Amino acid sequence: MKICCIGAGYVGGPTMAMIATKCPDIDVTVVDINAERIAAWNSEALPIFEKGLDELVIAARGQNLFFSTNVDQSIDEADIVFISVNTPTKTYGTGAGKASDLKYIELCARKIAEVSTTDKIVVEKSTLPVRTASTIKRILKNCPSEAQFEVLSNPEFLAEGTAIKDLQEPDRVLIGGDQTPEGLAAIQTLFDIYARWVSPDRILTTNVWSSELSKLTANAFLAQRISSINAISALCEATEANVDEVARAVGSDSRIGPKFLKSSVGFGGSCFQKDVLNLVYLCEHYGLTEVAQYWEQVILMNNYQRKRFVQRMVTTLFNTVAGKKIAVLGFAFKKDTNDTRESAAIYICRDLLDEQAEIHIYDPKVSHKQICADLGIPEGHPGVHIHSSASDACANAHAVAVLTEWDEFTELDFQSIFDNMLKPSFIFDGRNILDLEALRKIGFETHAVGKV
Ligand code: NAD
Ligand code: UGA
Repeated sequence: MKICCIGAGYVGGPTMAMIATKCPDIDVTVVDINAERIAAWNSEALPIFEKGLDELVIAARGQNLFFSTNVDQSIDEADIVFISVNTPTKTYGTGAGKASDLKYIELCARKIAEVSTTDKIVVEKSTLPVRTASTIKRILKNCPSEAQFEVLSNPEFLAEGTAIKDLQEPDRVLIGGDQTPEGLAAIQTLFDIYARWVSPDRILTTNVWSSELSKLTANAFLAQRISSINAISALCEATEANVDEVARAVGSDSRIGPKFLKSSVGFGGSCFQKDVLNLVYLCEHYGLTEVAQYWEQVILMNNYQRKRFVQRMVTTLFNTVAGKKIAVLGFAFKKDTNDTRESAAIYICRDLLDEQAEIHIYDPKVSHKQICADLGIPEGHPGVHIHSSASDACANAHAVAVLTEWDEFTELDFQSIFDNMLKPSFIFDGRNILDLEALRKIGFETHAVGKV
């Protein structure tokens, strides 16, 4: 059996590395139109940082795992084609700012129709609006060779930073397909691949529409929990309650559970905002105004949380940060990844620059080039300095803001950081990871999310 995956990104690369590892008898080729990315997958320095990924790729690459720009041939030779391309928020035309931009998906479907000479199972791995499979099917019907296709939905639930663990031991694998003999056979083929390492009771099968919608719903529920606890963090700051204590008490109810109740500067990442906005757009499309408004509030609360954090910094720093040196610790959207897409740090740094602060950034994994690209500034911009250690970034600073929860930030030598800062020395913990009492003993004035 041969598998082709279109899209060598955060999902395509790790997911296919796992399938290749678990199924040595299956040839897996990951293709992309981005030649630079494919070259990186074939090099020593993989294009994404994910714990355990290097080992998997190095062991399987050249055996049964291949990275290639030869899209047409790899599709034609495959029995199963995964579509794992990006589905960003549309920035133009109808639905701009909310709907998913499906142009890359459509291009993939057209390419599969154009080059296929044999029957295939086509798997939607990308996160898609419900009913996208019907569009893909219509395009595939126009295949000149008259090859037959079954379209499955198999959304990915991995989180960045824990991708390999999530792929190795998923809470569930979801496969949606047509409830016809051909559709059920295709579901069984994909089921048998996952069943090589995932317990069958964790492989859920549904119709296509339920599978597509479950992915958007899962992300919306996760994002909603973060916005819910962040909303409460504002009330905690007003009332001297402590958001971590509230989260612990609330999360101890087994019906609620403790996960995803960590108050923060707001969620980031390439998917939560895009997928919730897509859900909002779909609800509006189907005339479900109240449902759309309900989910939109999750995004509005996240925007509010980021703004609120900057406002608190400005107010605390005597109502101005103009010309002040602010050390920013962490730029990635979460720890253990070099991904910065939609990172709260981007929005917070931009707001600080608007306030004319001088920002000094340190992140253990994000490159100088990436930070400047995200902030939309040239390298060498006088207001932004990138450092290779936290202590360098903090030297002579008026204030420190922790924006990513990297473990190393909890182990810094805060006494020496304090000694090298201007006084009074402020610290703003946007991730609630620091021992505030210890910091206060050193002499810092501390501020954290949802705590007075
Ligand atoms: P990504 O941007 O990292 O990778 C997508 C890749 O597809 C890019 O390298 C791009 O060059 C390639 N591509 C685009 N059009 C192509 C075409 N026509 N032919 C060949 N290659 C093409 O995206 P990602 O983060 O891997 O996300 C992919 C999908 O998976 C999205 O729908 C996303 O919502 C979903 N998803 C992402 C995550 C995550 O953690 N990043 C988790 C679950 C689901
Ligand atoms: C998320 C989901 O967790 C995955 O299941 C899903 O597959 C993926 O989106 C996707 O569809 O792309 P990811 O965005 O990689 O994964 O990372 P998360 O761990 O969910 O974190 C998202 C953001 O929420 C981060 O900025 C994180 O710091 C923040 N967060 C998370 C909080 O602020 N508080 C929490 O309690 C948890």
